[in-house]
Amino acid sequence: AAPKPLAGRHALVTSGPTHEPIDPVRYIANRSSGKQGHAVAAALADLGARVTLVTGPVTLSDPSGIETIKVETAAEMLAACRRALPADIFVAAAAVADWRVAGEADRKLKKDGGLPPPLRLAENPDILATLAAAGPDRPHLVIGFAAETNDVVAYARAKLARKGCDWIVANDVSPATGTFGGDSNTVHLIRRDGGEEAWPPLAKAEVARRLARAVAARFAPAAP
Ligand code: C5P
Repeated sequence: AAPKPLAGRHALVTSGPTHEPIDPVRYIANRSSGKQGHAVAAALADLGARVTLVTGPVTLSDPSGIETIKVETAAEMLAACRRALPADIFVAAAAVADWRVAGEADRKLKKDGGLPPPLRLAENPDILATLAAAGPDRPHLVIGFAAETNDVVAYARAKLARKGCDWIVANDVSPATGTFGGDSNTVHLIRRDGGEEAWPPLAKAEVARRLARAVAARFAPAAP
């Protein structure tokens, strides 16, 4: 049988976008297929972890053998993550909307021939920063993602510090790379302790397998 170095560990993974309602029929959202986050969840499970996947709306099917919790908004995603604690590993791969609509309408807004309705936005909670600062509930290894279009490593390192995470997976999402919705990804793995690896362009599933192996190595018992 394949080795299960993460047996006995609980991994919590967020994936997909969040949808923030404007009214019952409209929303604002980030662009995210959920492919990378779902692949990370599957790769951690393959190495024996018990995985809880908290996902926003995606067209992917639920990975088998993984408890999958479906949410719509950032507030729901944060609440579901808190309920899933304690966890040894937290991977924040979701593209969480930074803002929600303040005072969402409970009825469909109508075009009445006048001016379009103004959208007032309110800031959403930062799920990664919140769990990274969760005191005794903080997962032992907190991993964020950083999508950047330029100066990828420098911005990602600043993000790692700002959000209090241990590792950050930084990827270049400038349009020429085709990362969004595509099947491949070119990433850097940046660790708080200074280590930094540039990975070649890889299928998202392979990025996930490498990340899961790095996680397993981090939890491996020290050699006697
Ligand atoms: O600041 P930015 O959105 O670029 O950070 C990306 C990282 O933070 C990702 O790991 C994402 O899942 C996480 N994040 C979050 N909650 C937010 C915004 C981002 O968990 N509200």
